[in-house]
Amino acid sequence: MSTVKLGFIGTGGNAGRHMRDLSGLEGTELIAFCDVVEEKAEKAADNYNGRAYTDFNQMLTKEDLDAVYISIPPFAHGAPERAVIKAGLAMFVEKPVHMDTQDAREIAQMVDEAGIITATGYQERYLDIVDKAKELLADRRVGFFMGYWMGGMPGRWWREKAKSGGQVHEQTTHEIDLARYLFGEVTRVYAVDRTGLLPDTDYDIEEASAVSMQFESGVFGIMFSACFIQAGMRRSGLDIFCQDGSIEYRLRKSLTLSTAEGEYLWEAKNPYTLEMDRTFIEAVRSGDGSQIRSPYADAVKSAELSIAANQSLLTGQAIDLTE
Ligand SMILES: NC(=O)c1ccc[n+]([C@@H]2O[C@H](COP(=O)([O-])OP(=O)(O)OC[C@H]3O[C@@H](n4cnc5c(N)ncnc54)[C@H](O)[C@@H]3O)[C@@H](O)[C@H]2O)c1
Repeated sequence: MSTVKLGFIGTGGNAGRHMRDLSGLEGTELIAFCDVVEEKAEKAADNYNGRAYTDFNQMLTKEDLDAVYISIPPFAHGAPERAVIKAGLAMFVEKPVHMDTQDAREIAQMVDEAGIITATGYQERYLDIVDKAKELLADRRVGFFMGYWMGGMPGRWWREKAKSGGQVHEQTTHEIDLARYLFGEVTRVYAVDRTGLLPDTDYDIEEASAVSMQFESGVFGIMFSACFIQAGMRRSGLDIFCQDGSIEYRLRKSLTLSTAEGEYLWEAKNPYTLEMDRTFIEAVRSGDGSQIRSPYADAVKSAELSIAANQSLLTGQAIDLTE
């Protein structure tokens, strides 16, 4: 088995999870670690006996890599991807893949022209219960769904709209992508929000929102997001209403089908984040990306939906995505 040599741009919390998974995979070598915060790059390099960089261009010039993981905050995307593509390397990009639709589309075009393997961090797509949901939905008539991502307020760049894009773009994007995976493409988005629910003043993102989405297939859905809930019910998942019953997906935990015949429960069992990384590494090794469930160009479409939702919040208008 040939060794896949890996570099990292961004060595924060989420990259650390990938590193732990990847270091346990046979035939991978974690070689180079770049972060704009030098100590973070050095810590990762120490952990995995690699080399640290603060400039990704230097890392790409000096190291002999096969693939790069890009796990940085939403506002920092663009230049790292372009550099990795120019270096002709495969890339795994964390969601949301960009904050700018036009630049993301250009990068997708560059990926296509360069013919490189890409994957993104929409991990729900690798869940066993999501496979089951697809199976259950295959011959059902779906009316609509309600989606939820409800919890508290994380810290740091997440709280700044210009850096994270807000909760819908940064977090609920997982559910938006899952809705696309299950129901297809969206033609129209309209969003409402409210602020001023938390006493802190060190954030400028919406604390509650609802995004309504009309799908090409006729299905529609409303996705609720909340980051003001400090106690009580925290709920994330999708409730899907069908002509012969309902399907309840609880985020990364379970799937319940309720029909006139009874109630059936499936619990999530597979190591889906590891499978996401393994699928990417195998694709890089073989040159066959057909098993990757969320390549870059597809993830751009999910980012476009939350960017459109933000646009709707600003303008008060529904955004037509077919134009
Ligand atoms: N798929 C998932 O379930 C999942 C989970 C958590 C986070 N994420 C995503 O991962 C990304 C990173 O999140 P995190 O929680 O690790 O944040 P983090 O702040 O812990 O890490 C981000 C790191 O990127 C570094 N950085 C910023 N710009 C850079 C640049 N140009 N070059 C090199 N390094 C740069 C920062 O210094 C920081 O160390 C976000 O997009 C987030 O949405 C995905």
